Amino acid sequence: MFRRISALVLAGLTAMSVASCGGGSGGSGSGDGSITMGFAQVGAESGWRTANTKSVQDSAKNAGVTLKFSDAQQKQENQIKAIRSYIQQKVDVIAFSPVVESGWDTVLKEAKDAKIPVILTDRAVDSKDTSLYKTFLGSDFVEEGKKAGQWLVQEYKDAKDPVNIVELQGTTGSAPANDRKAGFAQVIGADPKFKVIASQTGDFTRAKGKEVMEAFLKSNPDIDVLYAHNDDMGLGAIEAIEGAGKVPGKDIKIITVDAVKDGMQALADGKINYIVECSPLLGPQLMDLAKKVVKGEQVPARVVTEETTFTQEQAKQVLSSRQY
Ligand code: AHR
Repeated sequence: MFRRISALVLAGLTAMSVASCGGGSGGSGSGDGSITMGFAQVGAESGWRTANTKSVQDSAKNAGVTLKFSDAQQKQENQIKAIRSYIQQKVDVIAFSPVVESGWDTVLKEAKDAKIPVILTDRAVDSKDTSLYKTFLGSDFVEEGKKAGQWLVQEYKDAKDPVNIVELQGTTGSAPANDRKAGFAQVIGADPKFKVIASQTGDFTRAKGKEVMEAFLKSNPDIDVLYAHNDDMGLGAIEAIEGAGKVPGKDIKIITVDAVKDGMQALADGKINYIVECSPLLGPQLMDLAKKVVKGEQVPARVVTEETTFTQEQAKQVLSSRQY
C-alpha cells in the first residue's frame, strides 16, 4: 500500500517538474519515425546553463525531435526522478547533464533494462560500467583547467615572490569542478611559488561567488589571483573585490571559464584577465547522436567539444559576434 502511494506521489511530482516542448510527434510506439527525447537538465545556475538549455530546445525543434525537458534545480534526486519518469513514459532516448559525478548506476541500469539509450551531455558520470550510456558529448574539463594554469604560469614567469591564488570551485562533486581543479593544480604544481591559499565552492552561481570572495578577502589580505571555475562566480567576485576597494584585473588578476557574453564583456573591460572557453552549444550534435543511437547505429564513445581561450584583446574583437 505504502509503495503504491509513494509511486503515485513520485509520478505526480515528476509530472509537475517535467515539461514538454519541441516539434515532431510521438515517442516509442508512435511508429512514424519521429523520436522523443527526455532531457534532464542540471538547473539554471549560470549564463552558460541558460545558453545550453536554449541550444538543446532550439536544436530539438529544428531536428523534429519531441523534447521532454526537466530542470533539476541543481539536485541529483530531482534528476533521478526525471529520468525515472522518462523511463515510465517510454521515451526513445534519454539525455542528461549529471549534476554530480557519482551515484548514477542504479537509475542508468533501469534505463538499460528498459532498452532506452542514454547520452551524457556536458558532464560525465564516474560509473565503471560504460555500457550504461551510449556516448558522452561535452568539453574536456581537465584540459580547461590546464589552459587556465598555463596562462598563469606564463603571466608570472618572471615573478620571484610567491603568487597567492584563491579558487572558486564549481558545484561540489560535479565533473567540471573536479576536473578544472585537477587540471589547474597539475600545471601550477610544477612551480612552488604558486600557492592556492584558499579554495571553496561557489556553486557556479554569481551570488555564491560574491559571498565566498567577500570571505576570502576578509581572511586573506594578499590575494594576487582569483581562479573561478566559471564566469558567473568570477562576476560575483568582481563585485566583492570592488566592494573591498580593490581593482579587479589589476590588484587581483582573474581567470575564469565559459566565455559567456557577460564574462567576455568584463574581459574586454579589463576586469577579467583571461577566459578559457567552454561551449554550451551542444544541441545540434546531441540531436544527431540521438537519432543515430535510436536507429542502433554506432557512435563514438566520446565526443569532445572544440574550444579556445580569450585574452582581453581577443574579447574586444569577438564580443559583438558572440552567440551567448
Ligand atoms: O558543466 C558546465 C558548467 O556548468 C559551466 O562551466 C558552468 O557555468 C555551468 O554551470
